[in-house]
Amino acid sequence: MKQIRTQVGIVGAGPAGLMLGHLLHLAGIDSIIIENRSQDYVIERVRAGVLEQSTVDLMKKSGVGDRLQHEGMSHDGIYINVFGKRRRIDMAALTGRRITVYGQNEVVKDLISARTETGRPLIFEVSDVSVYGLESEQPAIRFTKDEESFEIRCDFIAGCDGFHGICRESIPASQIHIYERVYPFGWLGILANATPSSPELVYSRHSRGFALFSMRSPSVTRLYLQCAPDEDVSQWPDDRIWDELLTRLQSDDGWKPNVGPITQKGVTGMRSFVSEPMRFGRMFLAGDAAHIVPPTGAKGLNLAMADVWRLSRAIQRHYEANSGDLLDRYSQDCLRRVWRAQQFSWWMTSLLHRPDTDNAFDQRRQHAELLYVTSSRAAMTSLAENYVGLPIDETTGED
Ligand code: APR
Ligand code: PHB
Repeated sequence: MKQIRTQVGIVGAGPAGLMLGHLLHLAGIDSIIIENRSQDYVIERVRAGVLEQSTVDLMKKSGVGDRLQHEGMSHDGIYINVFGKRRRIDMAALTGRRITVYGQNEVVKDLISARTETGRPLIFEVSDVSVYGLESEQPAIRFTKDEESFEIRCDFIAGCDGFHGICRESIPASQIHIYERVYPFGWLGILANATPSSPELVYSRHSRGFALFSMRSPSVTRLYLQCAPDEDVSQWPDDRIWDELLTRLQSDDGWKPNVGPITQKGVTGMRSFVSEPMRFGRMFLAGDAAHIVPPTGAKGLNLAMADVWRLSRAIQRHYEANSGDLLDRYSQDCLRRVWRAQQFSWWMTSLLHRPDTDNAFDQRRQHAELLYVTSSRAAMTSLAENYVGLPIDETTGED
């Protein structure tokens, strides 16, 4: 087995692993990133698209924000369509902060080019990844690449390998607590070659269920429909998708999305998931490996970025000041933000989806809440401050 040595071994080249590698590089800390998929797959994979201001600031400050600055679409507000009546929440006026629409695959592309420029290792298409010695001073990652076996010896392992990765699974069950909620619906998402017909996102609660209008560029619209968690995409020819989207999204003011050729379709289930703590010995979990939110609050990518910002600072402090204090606090500091986002994402999801049981009381209660949230300045401010996100180094509440 071929031995390699580095300071930080990073498993996973999603936004979390790549941004961590980049921030460590800026601090002069060496890392190796390994990824089991191909570079093309990682770049092409269609994922989230809403960046909080703190994520945008982090990308700009760390020198990977050039394309984002030119191609990202800055939005001051969002619309909520309440049973056909479209109401706007002016997040910039209420909070002074905004969101930027820029696809996760663009973020990944920018981070891969930054990594490539540094010449530090980023290895795609590895297999048989496993981690060892997590409670020792020198943990190790083993993997196979082109039929050759490798072992990376490092000071720390960063588990940035997403929800289905191996890092979290390698922690003894007695050392971890899982909090989970699975929702009785999913989202059918499409990309269409159609000019976005609204400059801002439209979240819609229709009697037939939730729908969302979003975008990826001035010529590409991204749309979602609430569906069954195990919905069969093959039952959704393009015409049926457009019928349903137009029914659920169009509003009394005459607005509706533009229709165009569909270039991508997929169904995702929805879950809330947290694994605590986000550390075992010298292995630290970050991003989807540690937590999943339902996509309604657009928080997944932003939480991943906040985690790795914290982890990079903590690792830097270990090397520069020989102090483990930030590493010791990593999990609890991340989890405050994670639970705030969990609560918000659960709330947005419950507010906007058609529940699986048509209880008349719940319908009236949800309608009253939708009207309140789109008319009271206090309620809109609360939604807005959560949606645009807290500054990255701030969390609310006490331990
Ligand atoms: N070895 C190496 N890489 C792995 C392994 C493994 N055993 N298992 C998974 N991976 C890779 C996946 O292929 C993926 O590229 O880890 C990466 C994890 O990336 P993401 O799933 O994108 O997770 P993360 O970087 O935490 O980003 C969170 O991703 O799920 C979206 O919308 C979510 O925006 C959020 C963001
Ligand atoms: C997206 O554009 O993919 C998107 C936007 C807002 C969400 C979720 C996804 O809440």
